[in-house]
Amino acid sequence: MKFAPASVLVTGGAGFIGSNFIHSFIAANPGCQVTNLDCLTYAGNLKNLTAIENNPDYSFVKGDITDAPLVAQILADRRIDAVVHFAAESHVDRSITGPEIFVRTNVLGTQVLLEESRKHWQSGAVEGFRFLQISTDEVYGSLGDTGFFTEETPLAANSPYSASKAGADLLVRAYHETFGLPTLNTRCSNNYGPYHFPEKLIPLLIHNIINNKALPVYGDGLNVRDWLHVRDHATAIEVVLKTAVPGSVYNIGGNNEWKNIDIVNLVCDLLDSRLGRESGENRRLISFVKDRPGHDRRYAIDASRLKNDLGWEPAYTFEQGIAETIDWYLDNQEWVAEVTSGAYREYYQKQYGGGAR
Ligand code: NAD
Ligand code: DAU
Repeated sequence: MKFAPASVLVTGGAGFIGSNFIHSFIAANPGCQVTNLDCLTYAGNLKNLTAIENNPDYSFVKGDITDAPLVAQILADRRIDAVVHFAAESHVDRSITGPEIFVRTNVLGTQVLLEESRKHWQSGAVEGFRFLQISTDEVYGSLGDTGFFTEETPLAANSPYSASKAGADLLVRAYHETFGLPTLNTRCSNNYGPYHFPEKLIPLLIHNIINNKALPVYGDGLNVRDWLHVRDHATAIEVVLKTAVPGSVYNIGGNNEWKNIDIVNLVCDLLDSRLGRESGENRRLISFVKDRPGHDRRYAIDASRLKNDLGWEPAYTFEQGIAETIDWYLDNQEWVAEVTSGAYREYYQKQYGGGAR
């Protein structure tokens, strides 16, 4: 039977994937309460949620997932029956220059959420309960030229970011094995789409091309990533939350591998025509730079378990998704300008007057 949550706690809902998930979930589940707990780091942007900020099904709490009393209070007061846990430090490059916050948020934060969820679930305050950990294919490490990550691939994280996510995934497993907490764990490949912070490859390329800035390509540009539209990720999460058996792990991906340099060339060419530039003009901005230390060579996801068990498949073709994404950035230059100038950080104060709602 399908699990039908009535009150969902989304952590990190002001970030890229969390905000896309909230839009998609609220549209598909009228009447289900969604509480967004986010402490608004540099990556948290409430402007991502302006379209639903007055929706009666939605509310925002500014707070940190490591704050156990706050988490306990939200779980109890709002009779939360599902936690969808996105909140994290998510950028590999930042984890190389400053790993501590990755351990604090991604490992300790997940443990706090699990522990408070365990107490809440064991108190019998709600009938059904699910804890869904949103994770990444990066926990599996790096592939050679062939093969795919399956859910049985051993964890072999290579960056401080992926190690912190792997640590969190193991805690999720431990809370299921030790306490029986009904947990779920998804591991997705690289996402792209609206509201993507322009430190990550695709939005960085779009932003720099528009502004005629250099396009930094790490190493030889032959590293491979497997790209999925963020809205497809959102629908997969909803399917797993509602239909997967507690304790299970699902890979999420769209079978869409690209070498970085091919993505860079594609985005350059699509923007040549949109910006009225000569064919090939944007490629002149490409600049090969020093490689990322420990740069994983290739990711490729086998998502057949998700397809076979739960019937999920992506709706976007890459051709459609990347074209729409480029158009979204061109149509939302104000959003980009506010992110790059830092103005987006003042929005919370103006909108919420300094207090949590
Ligand atoms: P993001 O960096 O865009 O957003 C993270 C959000 O978490 C922000 O809103 C931030 O303010 C919030 N946050 C950070 N620390 C917090 C804390 N201590 N308490 C409360 N909120 C906090 O990240 P994203 O790209 O949207 O990724 C979301 C999740 O999905 C992460 O767990 C990431 O590991 C996972 N993931 C991302 C990708 C991808 O391609 N971006 C792919 C697979 C999995
Ligand atoms: O695979 C899922 C992961 O995808 C998520 O878990 C992470 O949160 C998310 O950030 C993403 O990690 P990557 O490191 O793959 O994404 P990023 O956009 O940083 O880089 C994509 C590829 O492009 C990677 O091989 C590094 C390269 N790159 C990146 C940047 C920012 C460049 O060549 N130049 C750049 O300027």
